[in-house]
Amino acid sequence: MSQKKDNAQDWTRRELLGGASLAAAGIAAVSLAKPVPAQAAPRSGAKHPPLENFKYDIESSKGWLGPGGSAKEANVEEFPVSESMAGVSMRLKPGGLRELHWHAVAAEWAYIIKGNIRATVIAPNGQAESADFGPGDVWYFPKGHGHALQCLGPEDAHFILVFDDGNFSEFGTFSITDWIGHTPPQVLARNLGLPQPVFASMAKAEAYIIPGKVPPAVPEGLRNGNPSENQFPHKFRLGAMQPRKFPGGEERIVSSLEFPIQTTLTGVIQDLKPGGLREMHWHPNADEWQFYISGKSRVTIFGAHGRTATEEFAPGQIAFIKQGFGHFVEQVGNEPTRILILFNSPVYQEISISAWLAANPPSLIADNFGLSPAQVAQLPKGAIGIIA
Ligand SMILES: [Fe+2]
Ligand SMILES: [Fe+2]
Repeated sequence: MSQKKDNAQDWTRRELLGGASLAAAGIAAVSLAKPVPAQAAPRSGAKHPPLENFKYDIESSKGWLGPGGSAKEANVEEFPVSESMAGVSMRLKPGGLRELHWHAVAAEWAYIIKGNIRATVIAPNGQAESADFGPGDVWYFPKGHGHALQCLGPEDAHFILVFDDGNFSEFGTFSITDWIGHTPPQVLARNLGLPQPVFASMAKAEAYIIPGKVPPAVPEGLRNGNPSENQFPHKFRLGAMQPRKFPGGEERIVSSLEFPIQTTLTGVIQDLKPGGLREMHWHPNADEWQFYISGKSRVTIFGAHGRTATEEFAPGQIAFIKQGFGHFVEQVGNEPTRILILFNSPVYQEISISAWLAANPPSLIADNFGLSPAQVAQLPKGAIGIIA
């Protein structure tokens, strides 16, 4: 954990202790709410700070590399604006095993770009599921659900994980080997029924991603015979969904309506045709996290007070657009652009500029912009989505 996070935690603890001691002394604490940290005075003439950087090149980062696979991550350490979501680009070789683990602070959402993965997961009600995922498939593991991943081959698998907390670190998850390696052998022997020397000889460090055998094509039964079949699937076939089609592209959206277990995020695959323009819009209820799978785009954000920023994105790069910020996406280059998009809300919401202007009286729009009635009549009469 970083110094920054340590400081934040210590500070919060001090604040709580400070509040508690005031209460104990019979002095009314003004507030236990986290106070606003002191900020540097704005530069003269600059009433509002510039917009934060909203681009991060995750695939160019070094990440973690082992014989079974690799992982690169983007959380607030690398990409400070992304406070509500963190991303990981993970690759597993055939037989590669992402060991049994869980995440204490975040739910995990995944989209398979390439290859095949078998995920085995347990829910707190004891229901367990072992399911196979191919390109276009999505999984969602609620916070704390124990899971493991195996690459089925024949090729390497590549998938993008998104976590619903920007402070999440893939390199700080709760892994089974880490726990066992730091538990006394006598406790393990009593708990797991093997002799103490078996545990004494086990590695003490977290395995994380290790080489393993390619699992059989037909999934093995679970060790307990799977007496309680899973009734709340962790899998959704986003790539197999009928898209919403627009003149300049199409998109597939999976919210909690289509995928009930996915209670904290909404996922989208958006395809832009060459020259397409994802129209000016904003999302009232969520931040937007974008990962560029293929093709390029130019994204422009609007953060009020005359502040706009534009960045161009290529495969392997991430954009982050804060809740409520206006934005549009211009496809660039000859190759179509495919974007994986996550919102930190289980319900999808947007308001587009064309839908908004259509939902106003013509005289109001005429006055607002100084347009003639004839010009107002030419404005769109509803949402356009993606313009050709
Ligand atoms: Fe995980
Ligand atoms: Fe958007």
